[in-house]
Amino acid sequence: MTEPTKQFSAAVKIREFPGQTPLQIMAAKGETEPTPLSSLERFPYYTAFPFAWYYACYSDDLLPGEVRQARYLARDLVLWRGQDNHPHVMDAYCPHLGANIALGGRVEGDNLVCPYHWWEYDGDGQNVKVPYSNKVNRKAKLRSYPTVERNGLVLFWYHPDPACKPLWEIPDFPEYFTDEWTEFHKAEWKVRCPWQELAENGPDYIHLKTVHGAATVPELESLTYDGYKSSLRSKVDFDTPRGPTPGRIDTDSWGPGFSIARFAGIIDTIFMSGTTPIDWEYTLSIKGYKIRKLGHTEELLAKTNRVGQALVADLRKQMLEDNIIFDNKIQIASPALVPEDGPIMAFRRWAEQFYADGDLVSAGR
Ligand code: FES
Ligand SMILES: [Fe+2]
Repeated sequence: MTEPTKQFSAAVKIREFPGQTPLQIMAAKGETEPTPLSSLERFPYYTAFPFAWYYACYSDDLLPGEVRQARYLARDLVLWRGQDNHPHVMDAYCPHLGANIALGGRVEGDNLVCPYHWWEYDGDGQNVKVPYSNKVNRKAKLRSYPTVERNGLVLFWYHPDPACKPLWEIPDFPEYFTDEWTEFHKAEWKVRCPWQELAENGPDYIHLKTVHGAATVPELESLTYDGYKSSLRSKVDFDTPRGPTPGRIDTDSWGPGFSIARFAGIIDTIFMSGTTPIDWEYTLSIKGYKIRKLGHTEELLAKTNRVGQALVADLRKQMLEDNIIFDNKIQIASPALVPEDGPIMAFRRWAEQFYADGDLVSAGR
């Protein structure tokens, strides 16, 4: 399963280009319509949702006793947290007579109660109470997705085979457990393409200049594929008024749904990324930024927060530029490449392992 580390020395020189890039100009106008082609026409490989740990919500957006509605993986889901503080992600339709439990459902202790006839389900989705009967119905079971809480995010495990237990784990990060870092600065987008297209763009440093107009392009040092994990290491010279300052950008991904990027240099920043399919056409992309506090005085905390807000604003602008590509691109199965493009095909071989056919019909495909 382990691929050898790919080494690159791609200190790429790109022709200078005055003013804004073409996509920056188009994004600022905001007039581009997405393609009328369907996702299956654009991405023929996308016939199953990849199995993965997926972002459900931020931990602080789901308090004990709360019930929330979500649509991921072409399914209607209910997110809830019991009084025991355990978060749950379940299919939303009650097996009794089909109500969407996320709309009006409530938490009683560690159980979820359907709003229609008040049948009660435990954390595994099993019916444990029918309030007007002495019996429970053992057939009445909601699919419950394995759920963990890591680094301030609620994540759930999806596999087309509901019996398939999680195949890897998501670690805790040291940055989450100290007060040296800010709270999350949160940003999210709905992107009209599958996860794989977003992830393929990750090591595509050339586009930082050609799409986003970046002054410098990072140098990709290595990209390692090890089972379900991929790790990208790179160095970059950040432009500052005092001249170029050396820094690093290092990214680690655990399967298709979750990654962390660490920026070191001028101001240390991390962001956790989640990509969760909403349906076959759209993917939810979230990024939670944390910035290493410049100090603990009120003034330095305010300055750190301004940096965070500026980073999120810049990312939003970049996403508008990227989205013109993502909303309209197709996948070229045999792309025309040059060595400086980086390891596109190695990435695709790694990505292939996450697709297992299984429940295309129940997922509405
Ligand atoms: S539909 Fe849920 S209790 Fe009847
Ligand atoms: Fe981009």
